[in-house]
Amino acid sequence: MIKSLKGMNDITTSESGKWQFIEHMIHNVCRKFGFREIRTPVLERLELFKRGVGDTTDVVQKEMYNFLDKKGRSVALRPEGTSSVVRSCIQHKIFENSSVNKIYYNVPCFRYERPQSGRQRQFHQFGAEFFGSYSAAADAELISLAVCFLSELGLDDLTVNINSVGCHECKERYNAALREFFSDRQMCELCSSRLVRNPMRLLDCKNPSCKEICKQAPVILDLLCNECSSHFNELKVQLGAMGISYCVDSGIVRGLDYYTNTVFEIKSNKLGAQSTLCGGGRYNSLVKSLGGLDVPGVGFGMGIERLLIILENYGIDIDVNQNPLLFVAAVGREASLFASGLVLRMRQRGIFAEKDSSSKSLNAQMKYANKINSKFVVVLGSDELETSRAKLKNMSTGMEEEVELEINAICSRLEVYGSL
Ligand code: HAM
Repeated sequence: MIKSLKGMNDITTSESGKWQFIEHMIHNVCRKFGFREIRTPVLERLELFKRGVGDTTDVVQKEMYNFLDKKGRSVALRPEGTSSVVRSCIQHKIFENSSVNKIYYNVPCFRYERPQSGRQRQFHQFGAEFFGSYSAAADAELISLAVCFLSELGLDDLTVNINSVGCHECKERYNAALREFFSDRQMCELCSSRLVRNPMRLLDCKNPSCKEICKQAPVILDLLCNECSSHFNELKVQLGAMGISYCVDSGIVRGLDYYTNTVFEIKSNKLGAQSTLCGGGRYNSLVKSLGGLDVPGVGFGMGIERLLIILENYGIDIDVNQNPLLFVAAVGREASLFASGLVLRMRQRGIFAEKDSSSKSLNAQMKYANKINSKFVVVLGSDELETSRAKLKNMSTGMEEEVELEINAICSRLEVYGSL
């Protein structure tokens, strides 16, 4: 048997209804916030992610699915959406045509990580990117999109954790302070190797003794310049004005290099070890550094697999009604041909109707109708065709009533039961 690759899961027919529902909710909420969908290729030049996400990040150094194509070019499966969206907008001169652009996507991403619950090698990210505004109001609007989406799914009590990593100068100042702080402290091997190139990464170390040391480390919020500090204060005011509760968490540094100013995460204690459902922030120089105009951006990415785990753990059942409304059972060739026509006309009216397609006995057809949870069954034989009347059976109550064998008559009976 050939199995799927480790960490790459099928979305089976029994699960796909939930995915379709989530996808529908994503399109719906993004439309209300004025975001438009983008679809970019799964495969990009490796260079894009090295320059976009950052050469020293774990995502690029350890987790990328990259290889040489048949012409020897270095390519990579997308590990995240933002770099691809920016590349596409630059390529299609989107920033030249409009000063503000609100864009969303829901795409598979790939990271070579150790698979566990909530962490796959192929996962799906719903992401949104708001380009063209330096204002903290844009950050707040973007966060409100994520919050609104989650609350429409019934998740009202997830906390938004916010922080600011400041502008490039603030980051430099902070990195210098971290280098000095960690220089005479005993950190793990990985931390020591990161200290020179990317000291902020040390704050994310999972090693217990490193974690303990990090508690005493300087806090970025104490080192922000006036401008970055007031940008962060304005974000808090904006969130407050929208009634979005938040916690300031100065420990959030994020694993990707492009962030400036606002960073945020939405976490859930119902997610287990991988507690972050949504992560994002502002990136004021990414577009320029990838060869575009000087356009700021702010965005988030949310893992759909993690979202489904949380929904399940909250006991929120996504009602994906995949059961037929009507099963037309037929005995004999003539009735079976009539059933084919009737079922097609029902489907053309937008009704989920089913019939037998493998010459099953009436008994077997009834069993099948039960198995697929059809709400109603109508049985056709030569008598029914002759009198143009048939019995409509409600499968949950067992009640039967006679209906005229005509599509409008059947539909109006189903309507009486509120089933249309
Ligand atoms: P990220 O924090 O790397 O940010 O990923 C965002 C979300 O994707 C995570 O919070 C998580 O839900 C999901 N995720 C990441 N890796 C995995 C995995 N291996 N398995 C399952 N889910 C995963 C970004 O990717 C940024 N592009 C977000 C962003 C957009 N920032 C600005 N704009």
